[in-house]
Amino acid sequence: MTIPKAELHLHIEGTLEPELAFALAERNGVTLPYASADELRRAYAFDDLQSFLDLYYALMAVLRTERDFADLADAYLARAAAQGVRHAEIFFDPQAHTARGVPIGTVVEGLARALDGSRERHGVSTRLIMCFLRDESAASAMETFEAARPHLHRIAAVGLDSAEVGHPPVTFREVYDAAAAAGLRRVAHAGEEGPPAYVWEALDVLGVDRIDHGIRSMEDPELVARLARDQVPLTVCPLSNVRLRCVAALDEHPLPAMLDAGLLVTVNSDDPAYFGGYAGDNFDALRDALALDEDTVRRLARNSFRAAFLDGEEHLRARYLAEVDAYVF
Ligand code: ADE
Ligand code: ZN
Repeated sequence: MTIPKAELHLHIEGTLEPELAFALAERNGVTLPYASADELRRAYAFDDLQSFLDLYYALMAVLRTERDFADLADAYLARAAAQGVRHAEIFFDPQAHTARGVPIGTVVEGLARALDGSRERHGVSTRLIMCFLRDESAASAMETFEAARPHLHRIAAVGLDSAEVGHPPVTFREVYDAAAAAGLRRVAHAGEEGPPAYVWEALDVLGVDRIDHGIRSMEDPELVARLARDQVPLTVCPLSNVRLRCVAALDEHPLPAMLDAGLLVTVNSDDPAYFGGYAGDNFDALRDALALDEDTVRRLARNSFRAAFLDGEEHLRARYLAEVDAYVF
């Protein structure tokens, strides 16, 4: 569906399509343990978040140079634009690259090269969100934040991702405080596989502006009331939730109940190369599985721009919202 929308939950490393992975492997002299892009694609069957993350981190071996990161981001922006994305807030995982000897500057400046030309080339405005890996230590997160300081003018927010269960938000209080002091916005994955308690912590300890996923919040009525009262945006990723078996099937997704509860829900793609679709595909799949009416689809699209980190560019937010209102199905 090409209704204008903002994508607020998108891991750039999760946009690495098998064909691009093979092209970059060849360019960089990396050998992949798959015979072809089709064989690689057949490996995309996951039991849970960890089984996905194992393949996701392994494939990053093909990303080595600024040009690789620029090509990856440019390919994503072209696909996103074709599905109605007008604004994209893009996660990246610096530790997954620095651990392989790729400097953080290579990652940020490579991505920035594609993002800087995005409005002209693709008609998509962008923000960059630097995520800390929660299955690494708090010290590693802080070291990453310090290494990123020369690049902070390119970064709008920090986030928290990777294996959730057993890795509560509270561990990262100090680095989130440092990010806030540096003027950055804050988000965190919480309530994807982990319990509602992690959503509370992300809100009350890390001071996040949005919750990524948050679907398990529905198990805690007090939390639902809090999220509704404060209109905390939730960046929900329907196809991801099904592929990672957080939700049994799309027609059992809690999104309608979340909307009924008055939550500020948005629809996003997470890792579209792995989970079967980009932002517009997620809208299509939801509408088909849940028989969403046009008003609901328009509400979801409006929510995405309401929740975007477009501070300082309110004229853009207003323009995008007007585009949503003018959209004809
Ligand atoms: N990194 C990439 N995709 C993720 C997800 N869905 N949850 C946690 N970490 C991730
Ligand atoms: Zn995610």
